[in-house]
Amino acid sequence: MSMDTNNLRINIARLLDRLDQLAQIGKIDGDGVCRLALTDEDKAGRDLVCRWMHDLGLDVSVDRVGNVIGTRAGTEDGPVVLTGSHIDTVGTGGRYDGTLGVLAGLEVIASMNDMDMQTTLPLGVGFFTNEEGVRFQPDMMGSMVHQGHLPLDGMLRSKDRDGATLDGELNRIGYAGDVDVDTMRAAAFVELHVEQGPVLEQRGITIGAVDSVQGLLWKQITFSGTSNHAGTTPMSLRHDCGYAAGEIATFGRHLAIDMGEPQVVTVGTILMEPNLINVIAKQSIITVDLRNTDLTLLREAEARLDAHANNIAASEGLDVEIETLARYDPTPFDQRVVDLITDNAMTLGCSVRQMPSGAGHDAQAFAPNCPTAMIFVPSVGGISHNVAEYTEADDLEAGTNVLLHTLVSLANRETDLS
Ligand code: GLV
Ligand code: MN
Ligand code: MN
Repeated sequence: MSMDTNNLRINIARLLDRLDQLAQIGKIDGDGVCRLALTDEDKAGRDLVCRWMHDLGLDVSVDRVGNVIGTRAGTEDGPVVLTGSHIDTVGTGGRYDGTLGVLAGLEVIASMNDMDMQTTLPLGVGFFTNEEGVRFQPDMMGSMVHQGHLPLDGMLRSKDRDGATLDGELNRIGYAGDVDVDTMRAAAFVELHVEQGPVLEQRGITIGAVDSVQGLLWKQITFSGTSNHAGTTPMSLRHDCGYAAGEIATFGRHLAIDMGEPQVVTVGTILMEPNLINVIAKQSIITVDLRNTDLTLLREAEARLDAHANNIAASEGLDVEIETLARYDPTPFDQRVVDLITDNAMTLGCSVRQMPSGAGHDAQAFAPNCPTAMIFVPSVGGISHNVAEYTEADDLEAGTNVLLHTLVSLANRETDLS
């Protein structure tokens, strides 16, 4: 932390007010938020954040996959020091997941504007399209396209369950921008996010300096069989996709237990056709989310799942199709940025711990291309992807101050990243 910025602090009341205003858009029961990517609610959220970016004097650009970046000039032309996250949510989201990282970035800019403070390198705040991957797969789509890891054209063609294309929806809501993707190489990327897990709270620690993200694999298994009468069809003559779906869900749990931590497996959706009480299901579509910090173990989990799906299909006389909807290897962050975050947290009087992330994040897309790390703040009860998601204001303030000092240090080239 340089001498003249030691006393710089963010304004928590202003950050909380912005969080509250954005949380009104797509508000659902229980004080939660549903702002699925590229819906009308996402558009309204985007419009509000863009207005704030303009009000703060940022130069706002929209790229071809709808990522929005607001930039504040530095005293020198050079690569931007970037922060940001996402403002789309899962269907049962809270007000912090993603949103915090974007609005904290704006609060950093606002605080610097208040002080009339300049940095050497430009600073940018971005929000990236479809991070959650609930409506269109894969997740982290916008940031991965932005950094050249996913193909723009293929992603523009991706469809939601109702057949709407990403391209069509971007145009419909007015966020099909004209800035090329895979062109920006940032000087550094730092993302503030709620932990979404129990570790910080359980250990009484305020700041997580995130050093890696675990690997993620999304599989979709489609069984096809035969519908028939539930009362008259002998068990031995069934081609029952409902049974197969249940087998996959149970297998996922047993697989995770058998492999042990850190393997986790989640069956989050099962769609059945025709989904009637007295009709054997002729089709079931099951999604499976598998994660592990170790790539070899993640691949082993995948192989065992695939083999089990094939075995069920063979024994029940079903057709099976196994698709991969998302595949991200474990991602290490830059230890120099992790240490900078750790040092800044300590200088600001916060307890801090270096830790991996269990959730996926936009920062993963930047990590291979520029020095990258993340800052976590505690999630009360470790709850997220749930309307009850909550983080104490003191922790939001601490995390945003760590973000501020980390960005300033990077943008003033006080940390050697050469
Ligand atoms: C992103 O929110 C994830 O599923 O980790
Ligand atoms: Mn998130
Ligand atoms: Mn999320």
